[in-house]
Amino acid sequence: MYEQRIRRPELMSKVMTAAQAARLIKNGMTVGMSGFTRAGDAKAMPLALVERSRNEALALTLLTGASLGNDSDGMMANAGVVARRMPFQADAALRRKINTGEVMFIDQHLSETAEQLRSGDLKEIDVAVVEAVAITADGGIIPSMSVGNTATFAQQARQVIVEINLSAPLALEGFHDIYLPVARPHRGAIPLLTPWQRMGWTAIPVHPDRIAAIIITDSPDSPSNALPPDEETDAIARHVIRFLEGEVKAGRMGPELRPLQAGIGTIANAVLHGLIDSPFRNMTMYSEVLQDSAIELLDSGQLSMASASSITLSAAMHEKFIRNLESYRERIVLRPQEISNHPEVVRRLGLIALNTALEFDIYGNVNSTHVGGTHMMNGIGGSGDFARNAQLSIFVSKSVAKGGAISSVVPMVPHVDHTEHDVDVLVSEWGLADLRGLAPRERAPLIIENCAHPDYRPQLRAYLAEALKGGGQTPHVLEQAFAWYGRYKRDGSMLVK
Ligand code: COA
Repeated sequence: MYEQRIRRPELMSKVMTAAQAARLIKNGMTVGMSGFTRAGDAKAMPLALVERSRNEALALTLLTGASLGNDSDGMMANAGVVARRMPFQADAALRRKINTGEVMFIDQHLSETAEQLRSGDLKEIDVAVVEAVAITADGGIIPSMSVGNTATFAQQARQVIVEINLSAPLALEGFHDIYLPVARPHRGAIPLLTPWQRMGWTAIPVHPDRIAAIIITDSPDSPSNALPPDEETDAIARHVIRFLEGEVKAGRMGPELRPLQAGIGTIANAVLHGLIDSPFRNMTMYSEVLQDSAIELLDSGQLSMASASSITLSAAMHEKFIRNLESYRERIVLRPQEISNHPEVVRRLGLIALNTALEFDIYGNVNSTHVGGTHMMNGIGGSGDFARNAQLSIFVSKSVAKGGAISSVVPMVPHVDHTEHDVDVLVSEWGLADLRGLAPRERAPLIIENCAHPDYRPQLRAYLAEALKGGGQTPHVLEQAFAWYGRYKRDGSMLVK
């Protein structure tokens, strides 16, 4: 019945229910699950583990590519199944457990997990649980809508549980390019010179003996939860496009720009969507996630191809994508996240990296992860992999949050994910600050006047004036630097009344 999906006949005997397969996972184990920003995640095993935890203690270290869909992260966190979690999440219930200290969360650059597993810096994976479109005759696992860390997990784990998802079309075979670097110190250069190049296999090579269980599922990926563009994200997009037009005019790049990377979330998706009205042609993407906007640009012909580690779409775009899968075959490559985010490749290709900040400060330091400096939002994801190594590192943010009660431009960020050294350009709906070649004292007035909300500019100017009296390379009044957060807690707004 499943000959096309399980092409090695002796593996048919490994087909079992999720509950039976879940017995392979023991309390205290380290489990590597497929899944990257809601795409290609294991669907049946999280539910089976939650079910098992009702009758016995089951606390796991869970590694994935990035966030899971289907509320799996939340359900497993609420059931106590997840004791430790890395390297990324984006789930409200899990976030609560992280912020109460019940779940230990290791927030990590997404290119690094595979590297740390390979070099033995992390405990090895006991069981890998990976979603697949099919298993080839020689035991190769064909991933579905994401690759993420799946290849590393499947190759390292003592036992592999494969979830064959019948809702993922067989035609996805051929979209993936599975290449993993060899262990150090015997590693050469990664032979990737263009975003479209292929250098690996279309399936993950795994010895069939290590495939311990096969589960058949048919649940689709969760749709993306990015919101549609609004007035502010449109304005941010316009500033970015005008800036890139200037780069072309100045001869620093051609009308095809440099390969684009765009981060997760509503704002980055909206900015990329704005490129539809831009004059740029033959663009390429070398990113980690493709959202709706990337497919729109492929459809409009402005984007000639896109490389990423996952595809996360709204329900409507997903349906259209699957219906027209063949038209994307030659134009999309899905890679392990270690390669999509690899510093060596990002630097070589000279990317334009576009990521979202929760807040940034007057000198250009960016906080992408910690609300109020203490509470985890999602995680750094790939933003650091790209920001440090891109040719142009752009961070975007709306100038205020929570109806204006929070300024996203602050004197000093209380948590730094991207230091001033990694940030070239900052953009809000009010304007853009090009920080290249500027010293901190030159950056501050530009950021305040171009990016801060007008209501907050007088406060920021006053802070800077006070700070300048004390001197320094990066002037601050440390006893006042975080006072804005205290004011928000006390008065409900950062604004001085
Ligand atoms: N202080 C407190 N909360 C803030 C804030 C600030 N300065 N700025 C934004 N927020 C809140 C918003 O109010 C919103 O809250 P809600 O969910 O309760 O409505 C939430 O943060 C998300 O903000 P939004 O404006 O909708 O932006 P987004 O969906 O584009 O997400 C990030 C923004 C920063 C959370 C998201 O991009 C992220 O997790 N980035 C880190 C990972 C990353 O960059 N990966 C890139 C490689 S893929």
